[in-house]
Amino acid sequence: MPELLLLNGPNLGILGRREPEVYGTDTLADIEKAVAAEVAARDWRVRAFQSDSEGELIGVIQDSYDTVGAIVNPGALMIAGWSLRDALANYPSPWMEVHLSNVWARESFRHDSVIAPLADGVIVGLGALGYRLAARALVALPAA
Ligand code: DQA
Repeated sequence: MPELLLLNGPNLGILGRREPEVYGTDTLADIEKAVAAEVAARDWRVRAFQSDSEGELIGVIQDSYDTVGAIVNPGALMIAGWSLRDALANYPSPWMEVHLSNVWARESFRHDSVIAPLADGVIVGLGALGYRLAARALVALPAA
């Protein structure tokens, strides 16, 4: 069965308990379930991974060239995660960058993403709904 990669970076494993006024009350498990429900109609499964370590995220990307697409929330690695950026440059399928919060409405150090120029699309500020919409976009996009 085709698999969609759902990749979450540093500090996203504690969603639900992390600044809920900014990131909402859904846990990462809730989000993973929601994305799985979104792609089930297409008979896709979700391969979910979260890590606080950039190296581990890179390893999973390198091992996931068989996935049909990816949703990536890089957390603060958006700011200077150059190695993550290079790993995504070699990822062969369409992928979307998602941020729960509207990063442009926040501190200026969050206004630039080193990975966004490579993404097929970017969704910010819609909370957990952003992941569902990214999944919908990937289902609709032609495979690479
Ligand atoms: C985030 C936004 C980042 O700036 C922050 O470092 C995060 C979460 C978001 O989903 O809104 O860890 O990626």
